[in-house]
Amino acid sequence: MASGKTVLVTGGAGYIGSHGVLALQQAGYSVVVLDNLVYGHRDIVENVLKVEFVQGDTNDRALLNDVFAHYPIAGVMHFAAYTYVGESVTEPAKFYRNNVVGTLTLLEAMLAAGVKHFVFSSTCATYGVPKSVPIPEDHPQAPISPYGMTKLMVEHILTDFDKAYGLKSVCFRYFNAAGADPGGRLGEDHQPETHLIPLVLLTALGKRQSVSIFGTDYPTPDGTCVRDYIHVHDLAQAHVLGLQYLLDGGETTTFNLGNGNGFSVKQVIDAARQITGREILAVECDRRPGDPPALVGSSEKAIAQLGWRPLYPDIESIIAHAWNWHQQRHG
Ligand SMILES: NC(=O)c1ccc[n+]([C@@H]2O[C@H](COP(=O)([O-])OP(=O)(O)OC[C@H]3O[C@@H](n4cnc5c(N)ncnc54)[C@H](O)[C@@H]3O)[C@@H](O)[C@H]2O)c1
Repeated sequence: MASGKTVLVTGGAGYIGSHGVLALQQAGYSVVVLDNLVYGHRDIVENVLKVEFVQGDTNDRALLNDVFAHYPIAGVMHFAAYTYVGESVTEPAKFYRNNVVGTLTLLEAMLAAGVKHFVFSSTCATYGVPKSVPIPEDHPQAPISPYGMTKLMVEHILTDFDKAYGLKSVCFRYFNAAGADPGGRLGEDHQPETHLIPLVLLTALGKRQSVSIFGTDYPTPDGTCVRDYIHVHDLAQAHVLGLQYLLDGGETTTFNLGNGNGFSVKQVIDAARQITGREILAVECDRRPGDPPALVGSSEKAIAQLGWRPLYPDIESIIAHAWNWHQQRHG
């Protein structure tokens, strides 16, 4: 255990970052959150996590210098990014500046402060349209959106920064993060919401009229897109293991984080109907451009090398925990 060590968590007021903070606190780390609150939630950091909080931006080098001077940071978990894939197509400048330049600024501030351990939120979107599933880490990377490209660029920056400066990093390529803290303290609350499970649950709560199914003619068992849903609690635990690995002297590396199991859009909606006991109106629409039929990851490497053991691989637990949170937050 590296108990008592201090970790800077960027984006810690957001969905996955807040669960990362909770997991770090439970593992005995001290945490400082940096978030500009463009999408994050002040009430979560102040009232739930009760964590040291700096409101600010990864592009603000002077602020970063102050943070590194003020706190004895042993490592950084970098969740902060813009994540709306569609918006990245229409506003790529905004995404490259925030996700690439913001990360570069953070990395330079780390180097200046002598901090050399970095855990990065990458994504399965760096693979583009996969040649086959489940996708291993050495599958070719060919993103089809500027969002995916921003993450791939950072992965390349991290490889070069290790060679040149000895900065050690773990890149986690997540599949679809979903679910909520099993203890009901945290969950997903994006504005606007684009992810399937919260959209389905907001429909169950009557906050939305219906949920759209984009495409019913894909080459999948029921014709709808198949995705690999990974519980946010299990993601957060992997981050703690990844940080620990680096603090123990681990080399720069990359891990997929998924369950190796795919669920179709229709399967998710049916499971949500069962769990909530509510009617959920689903409307079948045309395909969206750029949606691969199936995205499923192999996480054997994280299991073997980090000792990662996902606790909630089943879609029922993922939806049940999210439902518990949504009823509290939006009910
Ligand atoms: N949600 C998923 O399924 C998924 C999948 C793959 C990868 N990821 C990655 O995981 C990370 C977290 O995703 P999320 O779903 O929790 O998103 P989120 O929007 O809930 O959280 C991101 C947080 O970062 C903050 N932020 C953004 N830019 C910032 C900046 N320049 N400086 C400071 N704070 C900034 C936002 O205010 C927000 O609180 C992102 O890097 C995302 O690309 C998410």
